[in-house]
Amino acid sequence: MENKDLEVLQASYKQIRDWHEHVNPTLSWRLHSRGFNKKYAKAKDIYYYDDKGTEYLDFLGGFGLNCIGHNHPRIKQLINDFLESQSPVFMQAGILPGPGALAQKLYELTGLENCFFGNSGTEVVEGAIKLARKATGKHKVISCDGAFHGKSMGSLSVSGRKKYKEPFEPLVPGCIQVPYGNTEVIESELKKGEVACVALEPIQGEAGIIVPYEGYLKDVEQLCRKYDTLLFLDEIQSGMGRTGRMFAYQYEDVTPDILTLAKGLSGTTLPIGALISKASVYKKAYGSRKAATAHTSTFGGNNLSTLVGLTTIKIIEEDGLINNAKEQGDYLIKNLNNLKEKYPKFIKDVRGKGLMAGIEFKKQSGLTSKMGEVASKVIFDESLCSTVATLLLNKHQIVTVYTLNNSDVLRFEPALTIQKQHIDKLIYALESVFKLRFWGMQAHGGKIVAQSVLKK
Ligand SMILES: Cc1ncc(COP(=O)(O)O)c(C=O)c1O
Repeated sequence: MENKDLEVLQASYKQIRDWHEHVNPTLSWRLHSRGFNKKYAKAKDIYYYDDKGTEYLDFLGGFGLNCIGHNHPRIKQLINDFLESQSPVFMQAGILPGPGALAQKLYELTGLENCFFGNSGTEVVEGAIKLARKATGKHKVISCDGAFHGKSMGSLSVSGRKKYKEPFEPLVPGCIQVPYGNTEVIESELKKGEVACVALEPIQGEAGIIVPYEGYLKDVEQLCRKYDTLLFLDEIQSGMGRTGRMFAYQYEDVTPDILTLAKGLSGTTLPIGALISKASVYKKAYGSRKAATAHTSTFGGNNLSTLVGLTTIKIIEEDGLINNAKEQGDYLIKNLNNLKEKYPKFIKDVRGKGLMAGIEFKKQSGLTSKMGEVASKVIFDESLCSTVATLLLNKHQIVTVYTLNNSDVLRFEPALTIQKQHIDKLIYALESVFKLRFWGMQAHGGKIVAQSVLKK
């Protein structure tokens, strides 16, 4: 390799594992022992490639972050040319064109006038909670059971899974959790007053790809207007064309007061988060001279990642990726439903919109299967879903994992460039796994675990 600074990329899998003893050794072991132990050397569009050149179809899409495909040539060109131009990446004591131009584009797309840029999803969710509190002078936040908004303190406080929350309690006070898709409980909480915002994912991702009833967002919006509360929509996972609209909320006639984006805006390359809001909200919170520096970020809104964000939007628009997400998503969900008909013993439900789809696995009934399920929990820590993910990766070279707040749901969130033949490959692979039947899956999964544990 010509560039000596890139030599680290040539490290062996064993070396990388050793280095990761200084990162998160338990997680690294968990991935390794479950067969998620490849040395990925290359990523392009919807594929990863290991160091032996084996191709892996990416149906995980980095939890929905991969919208335009890995290492998109236009993003590569942009970054190379930008660095060549020697334009400043950072300038805190002045304003730069990148964040301005991206904010203008996001305004054109959403009608929301003001933008704050951060570096991750959770960071802009923190910003959204602060913005809502400061703009309204109220302190409570309503969010939903099962929700996932990130893992920093504020975001965790409005998220849904006990396993992630309990070790860090007490969390931020005033966070109320209500069932997703239920407006009565929201109204009864709003009646009590002091609610700064209702925080919702238009489609819940980590809860297990939950699509609410049609009109839910509109109903919540009306309640927010009635009780003078802000509507905060978190499109960090569902945004950027994934569901067949640029933003999933555009399926309904609603306008959020606050919107968060991250993942897909990154061009699958540079971290970025965006917190977008109505000018009326933004002004109330940060419009005064005193408040103008109340919420800032050193790296957020840098010239380069915002330009990548802007170009990502252009790629999504110019390459027709939203229509493709809709078309391929319909095809994917139709085929997953066919599998559900064929394998009702395994698949309880198929859910999704566009390329944000998932299958929920059934809890096994019958004594032997139940025992197997317990064994699977011991071996794989979580559920049958986890075994299936291991088999898909190791036997069919397809990457996917379960949703973080519901380990019974296997998610499919590929890049929006995906084509029918890739979906056919996934369906064929899933069917091959189901054909093994329950004990076959356990046996094959167990063998992969045993081999992985012994692998260096
Ligand atoms: C809806 C939603 N909000 C927030 C987050 C947190 O984003 P990040 O992991 O970038 O902090 C996620 C991540 O999965 C998400 O899906």
